[in-house]
Amino acid sequence: MDKILVHGGKILEGDVRIGGSKNSALPILAATLLTKEKCVIDRVPDLSDIHYMLTILSSLGAEVERASGVVQIRAEKIITEAPYEIVRKMRASVCILGPLLGREKSAKVSLPGGCVIGDRPIDLHLKGFEALGAKVTVKGGDIFLHADKLKGARINLRGRHGPTVLGTGNIMMAAVLAEGTTVIEGAAEEPEVVDLARFLTAMGARISGAGTQHIEIEGVAELHGANHTVIPDRIEAGTFLVAGAIAGTRVTITRTEPEHLGAVIHALKEAGFNLSHTSDTVTISPNGARKPLHLETIPYPGFPTDMQAQFCAMLATMNGTSVVTETVFPQRFMHVAELKRMGANIELIDHHATIHGVERLSGAPVMASDLRASAALVLAALPADGVTEINRVYHIDRGYEAIDEKLNGLGAHIERVKAK
Ligand code: UD1
Repeated sequence: MDKILVHGGKILEGDVRIGGSKNSALPILAATLLTKEKCVIDRVPDLSDIHYMLTILSSLGAEVERASGVVQIRAEKIITEAPYEIVRKMRASVCILGPLLGREKSAKVSLPGGCVIGDRPIDLHLKGFEALGAKVTVKGGDIFLHADKLKGARINLRGRHGPTVLGTGNIMMAAVLAEGTTVIEGAAEEPEVVDLARFLTAMGARISGAGTQHIEIEGVAELHGANHTVIPDRIEAGTFLVAGAIAGTRVTITRTEPEHLGAVIHALKEAGFNLSHTSDTVTISPNGARKPLHLETIPYPGFPTDMQAQFCAMLATMNGTSVVTETVFPQRFMHVAELKRMGANIELIDHHATIHGVERLSGAPVMASDLRASAALVLAALPADGVTEINRVYHIDRGYEAIDEKLNGLGAHIERVKAK
């Protein structure tokens, strides 16, 4: 397995270009199953999660061609079964359920299995499919969906921890080909849901309200092929802003969408940094004293759970006591034990982390445990004394395109050691 070595203490400065959004691209690629015609998706990031999704689509019978960031898919004839070997590597493979049900009225997809950020149920997705008229059975680790026909319905997708992002996408993808009107209440408002709705609309779907908690979908008989460009990745963007905060004099992220970064920019300003933006760039630079934060993760437009670990890394190196509360995935704190190995002073009680900033962290061998936790370790290592060895970097490669090369472009010193 590859590992990376971060030689700490380098100062970051310069521009870094943000790629297309992983979390947008995954359901959009799945949505191409809804038509027999060719779809062309641009700005698809080169990530292992994307590779898994393309493998799943090929295994279902779609013709997939990829050239740099452009993916062409034609799903003329498809099968509706995705076995465990195919879906197990990525939880987001659940988002093929909606399109398969929408188009073929049938699906047999293995449950993707556990995930290190805690129990991640899909009960809300299944409840939504049932409301549209599907019979849902879970047996032998497989989900079976079947409907003679799908009928529009009123569905509330708000769960105990808030709305569900992929669940909202899944129900939209099934409902676009249902008879009549579907109303989703408690819908996720994330930009990735809006991006998916834009693509579906380009395919001929009738959707209104995406980006609010109330989405209406008027079913149509058939969808056609479409071209689409994926939005910039707001989590990659936020991660590089935090890199700039932790170790930079001036870092500018380019080809980004500042509007999607509101809560992250607000939190960084509160922590004492200077942020300015143009229509597609954001620049961060120091602004005197840094201040501790009280942060709580909240569904969009609140502070994103996918940025929580990176902020913990930053706050661990800043004077004062910060409190970070995780409300979306209450068990999502695997990075804390690893940050402590680097000298961080963090107390974890339930879903609250109390972080007492220390002067300096020190390099140590640490283990990447999930995607964003791994990014947090890279960030923590940037200003640390000595060398940090991060193992299991495949977690980072799931969601960050060449993070080592991009940080090196800003002045960091990161080596990737290839597995023998
Ligand atoms: C997506 C993102 C992930 C992000 C998360 C929350 C992708 C590929 N992944 O994941 O990076 O961290 O949104 O912003 O887009 N829940 C239920 N029942 C369900 C579904 C979810 O109880 O049927 C709960 C979850 O356990 C969690 C909360 O709802 O507590 C939000 O999860 P959800 O929005 O569904 O996350 P994903 O869409 O899987």
